[in-house]
Amino acid sequence: MGLSTTMKTLKTQWLRITVHVGSLIPLAVLVWSYFNDQLAADPIRAILLRTGKTALILLMLSLACTPINTLLGFKQVLKVRRALGLYAFLYATIHFLVFVGLDYGFDPDLLKPALLDRPYALVGFAAFLILLPLAITSTQGWMKRLGQLWKKLHQWGYLAALLVIVHFVWLVKADIREPLVYGAIVVLLLIFRIPRVRQVVSRIRNRSRNKPMGLPVAKNVKRLPQ
Ligand code: HEM
Repeated sequence: MGLSTTMKTLKTQWLRITVHVGSLIPLAVLVWSYFNDQLAADPIRAILLRTGKTALILLMLSLACTPINTLLGFKQVLKVRRALGLYAFLYATIHFLVFVGLDYGFDPDLLKPALLDRPYALVGFAAFLILLPLAITSTQGWMKRLGQLWKKLHQWGYLAALLVIVHFVWLVKADIREPLVYGAIVVLLLIFRIPRVRQVVSRIRNRSRNKPMGLPVAKNVKRLPQ
C-alpha cells in the first residue's frame, strides 16, 4: 500500500481505527500484566475490576454515539456504535467468565448461592443477560429481520448501563462518588434520547448552522469604487 493510500485510509477511517485500537489496549495491558505478575496481590480481583470498568466505559461510549450525533451532527460516530457495544460485551463476558470460572471453578453448587444471595452479583447478572441478546442481534441481518423492534430492543442498553451502575454502587461500600458520576452521565444520555429534547437540540443546532458567518451584511451600503 502506497503512502497516499495509507493517508487516505487514515483520513476516512481514523475514528474506526481509534475505536478498535483504544478498545483492545486495556485487554493487551491486562494480558501483559497477568503474565508479568503485575496484577497486585489478588490477580482475580484485579481482572474483575479492570474488565468491569472497561465494559462500563465502552457501554457508555456506545450509548453516547446517538446523543453526540444529535448535539454536534457528527454522523461518523454512528458507524462505531456497534463496535463499541460489542467490545463492551467482550469485556463483560471476560468479567463474567472470570467470576464463574476462576473464582468459582464453574461449579453450579457454589455459583448458585454466589449469584443469588448477593444482590450486587444478581444485578450484574441481569445486566449481562440484557447485553447478550443485544450483542447477538447487532448484525445487519438481525437489524433487517427485526425492523422497528430492533431499535426498541437496543434501547435496553440503557437499562443494562443503569443496572451496572447499581452493581457498582453496591460493590463499593464507602465512597460511591465514582459510580454516581457514571450514573449521572447515563441519566444525561437518556435525557438526550427523549424525543422532545432531541427536537429542541436539533432546532437550535440547525438555527446556529444557518446563521451567516462573520459580520451581518448591511442592505443599503454603497459599493466601494474598485
Ligand atoms: C454475573 C454477572 C456479574 C458478576 C457476578 C460480577 C461480579 C463482580 C465482582 C466480583 C466485582 C469485583 C468486586 C470487588 O472485589 O470489589 C465486580 C466489579 C465490577 N463489575 Fe461486575 N459482575 C457481573 C457483571 C457485570 C457487568 C455485565 C458489568 C458491565 C457491563 C460489570 C461491571 C462492573 C464494574 C464497573 C465493577 C467495579 C469496577 C471497579 O470498582 O473499578 N459487572 N463485578
